[in-house]
Amino acid sequence: MAVKKTRRDLQHHERYMSRCLQLAQRGAGSVSPNPMVGSVIVVDNRIVGEGFHRRFGGPHAEVNAIACVDDEALLTRSTLYVNLEPCSHYGKTPPCSDLIIQKKIPKVVVACRDPHEKVAGKGIGKLREAGVDVIEGILEDEALKLNEAFIKSHVKNMPFVALKLAQTLDGKIATVTGRSKWITGKESRTHVHSLRSRYDAVLTGSATVLADDPRLTVRHTKGRNPLRVVLDRTLRLPLGAKVFNKEAPTLLFTSVESSNTTKLDRLQKNGVEVVHVDEKHGGLDLGEVLSVLHAKGILSVFVESGARLSASLLRSMLVDKAYIYIAPKLFGGDGLDSFAPLDVHTPDKAFLFRFEASFFFGEDLLLEAYTR
Ligand SMILES: NC(=O)c1ccc[n+]([C@@H]2O[C@H](COP(=O)([O-])OP(=O)(O)OC[C@H]3O[C@@H](n4cnc5c(N)ncnc54)[C@H](OP(=O)(O)O)[C@@H]3O)[C@@H](O)[C@H]2O)c1
Repeated sequence: MAVKKTRRDLQHHERYMSRCLQLAQRGAGSVSPNPMVGSVIVVDNRIVGEGFHRRFGGPHAEVNAIACVDDEALLTRSTLYVNLEPCSHYGKTPPCSDLIIQKKIPKVVVACRDPHEKVAGKGIGKLREAGVDVIEGILEDEALKLNEAFIKSHVKNMPFVALKLAQTLDGKIATVTGRSKWITGKESRTHVHSLRSRYDAVLTGSATVLADDPRLTVRHTKGRNPLRVVLDRTLRLPLGAKVFNKEAPTLLFTSVESSNTTKLDRLQKNGVEVVHVDEKHGGLDLGEVLSVLHAKGILSVFVESGARLSASLLRSMLVDKAYIYIAPKLFGGDGLDSFAPLDVHTPDKAFLFRFEASFFFGEDLLLEAYTR
């Protein structure tokens, strides 16, 4: 009997937590560098209030959920669900754990802890000390995945890095002449734009800018433009490249010293931020590039480069995830491979991935995979 009750409780908890995760996603592309958080308040098995974190600097999910409960007295016998541990510190808003205690909410269900150094268990500790019953770990894997960028950035002090490839069935990202527009169809390209809008930065190499002159903005769907980040070791890119237009901010990394160029001055006058980094293995030091981005509050980087930069990032073990769009067509052996040489001499030395999900977009297949 007791086991049955526990299972039913678990199902209830999962149902309400699933709603929190749904709500949280509505903050995608607006809340970074904060996490996506949703919250629901339940009384007698009925949702009486819900909310989510809408934009960076705005009220947290718990505050919005509590504010939408009409009858405050209900709070004293409610359960508050939230996908991330309530905060315990004064940031842009006061601590949510204090509000929960103040409103005498007796029970809180949390999906996962917040790795932010100012929270990290302190929010839950504060609630428990005040006598609040706290249940942890409901839909934890789903919650960790939803905020994978926020979590990696706080645990590893590096941005979360996802590679995007649009390739043919035979693994080519451009034809023999270097042309890649378009390999995949409209539906896939629209999906790429929606991913762009969810990442803080989009990163590419100078060779792709020269070949494709991309704008790297969000146009096929609504959403904010990410910071555009370009690696141009020798400052070879023309000032008229679309990536330097005013549609979105651009950050250029180079190893050229600031003293010796007028091009650099002109880029900066055009509003492009230029950062000097050292070289490593013949290219820019990618670890340093990502550290600079982390220091600027960039949690996630969407890489839309060619074969060389993708391979360099993999070889430096800096890739977390890949979005591989596969079009049902072949370019043949003279096309450009998705990755430059990786020096894999035996199969046991291969770079390993784990497939996470697959979707169809029009005629194309998207594989989502994580590096192992
Ligand atoms: N289908 C797709 O998804 C897709 C996406 C993007 C591009 N493409 C195609 O890919 C082709 C370009 O590919 P690509 O491999 O030549 O170019 P890439 O990977 O986009 O850019 C490579 C360039 O970035 C610069 N760079 C700086 N630091 C680096 C580092 N640590 N590692 C690697 N590169 C670094 C280097 O130029 P400097 O030394 O001059 O800085 C290097 O030549 C084009 O044909 C384009 O159409 C296809």
